[in-house]
Amino acid sequence: MPKASNGDRRRITFVPQGPALVEGPVELVREDGTSVCSDRFLVAVCLCRRSKTYPLCDTSHRKRRRRTDESTHGERGQ
Ligand code: FES
Repeated sequence: MPKASNGDRRRITFVPQGPALVEGPVELVREDGTSVCSDRFLVAVCLCRRSKTYPLCDTSHRKRRRRTDESTHGERGQ
């Protein structure tokens, strides 16, 4: 597990149906080798791949959940 420069362990918190919250600052390296840096103290990393700012979470995962709820209601009504 990577450690912060001060020797403390970094904490990564997984949010159910959401992003991974990573203690910053961080550099995220995409599959193509390009990277995104964030100096925030807590960075939300997208795990659903729906974010328009991938690899950073833009809360698009919430829209996905609502659509699932709507389709569930639709199925019940049939
Ligand atoms: S986890 Fe939030 S947009 Fe993907």
